[in-house]
Amino acid sequence: MQQLLNKIEEYKKEISSFIASDEKQVEEFRIKWLGTKGMVKAIMGEMKNVTPENKKEAGQVLNDFKLFVENKYAELKFSTDSQLTAHSSQLDLSLPGDDLPVGSRHPVTLMRNRIVSIFQRLGFAVAEGPEIEDDWHNFTALNLPEHHPARDMQDTFYVQQNPDWLLRTHTSNVQIREMEKDKLPIRMIMPGRVYRNETVSARSHCFFHQVEGLYIDENVSFADLKQTLYFFVKEMYGKDVKVRFRPSYFPFTEPSAEMDVSCFICGGEGCNVCKKTGWVEILGCGMVHPNVLSNCNIDPERYTGFAFGMGIERPAMMKYGINDIRLFSENDVRFLKQFTSAV
Ligand code: PHE
Repeated sequence: MQQLLNKIEEYKKEISSFIASDEKQVEEFRIKWLGTKGMVKAIMGEMKNVTPENKKEAGQVLNDFKLFVENKYAELKFSTDSQLTAHSSQLDLSLPGDDLPVGSRHPVTLMRNRIVSIFQRLGFAVAEGPEIEDDWHNFTALNLPEHHPARDMQDTFYVQQNPDWLLRTHTSNVQIREMEKDKLPIRMIMPGRVYRNETVSARSHCFFHQVEGLYIDENVSFADLKQTLYFFVKEMYGKDVKVRFRPSYFPFTEPSAEMDVSCFICGGEGCNVCKKTGWVEILGCGMVHPNVLSNCNIDPERYTGFAFGMGIERPAMMKYGINDIRLFSENDVRFLKQFTSAV
């Protein structure tokens, strides 16, 4: 019993003289004395060696000791906390802060958002789909059966593990996925990344971005297509820009057309951007082919629709004066930070 009392006296001396100068030392104190493997626990364990007649007194002493340690810990904690506040009161909060570098949106994102928001105002919803696609959604359902010569219009990357898989060559796969959902009418815009096995150069890349649109309902006509695209062009390039449609061919639309706008760089007089023609081609479009509708279980006798598709990189290059498409994917901060304040 005497031994126990002596030990506690010693501990008390040690604890009383202990000073902590930071939070870390306070925590060390807590672990040493009050932790689950700490001294207080250990000394409590000595109760079992105390003779029955001393048990009551020993219990009292040990409890007092525990309280003593806990009080000291609270004291230490309080004094370091108040040191912290004293320290922070020396900070001059009126000084300007450190500069945080401002991030910027990627020019492709800026252009995509612009295009998408124009169609959203016409009531088009945004739809997205997979970049690794099966043959049905990228080709067959779009009226491009196996061995169709038009498959060669878009050089395709196939996935080695499964000959049925490929990297989508256009976002038209999302059109099929939306039509298969069996919910009509459809008024959707589909932005996304697409892949084509082309030699990388200043003007073409093996991946790029597109926005496609799809509108399916009863009585949709080519006039609706034209009005929708006129609205888009005026919002995008200004009301003075002229528009022309040229007949074209896409397997999934009939009739098909390509749409040009008068060159917004030279105003139609002829420059390098429009290759002296005064016109810039911006998208492909047409009335959805009846075979495509049937492939998605939509009755072509009752429903008609239009679709269109455009690249994002080319208009972004024209708008921001970018002369090399590879810059978009190199992620050079010196290039990207120039768009900090662009819209
Ligand atoms: N999918 C076509 C392409 O990638 C674009 C397009 C979409 C054309 C819809 C007509 C209708 O070139």
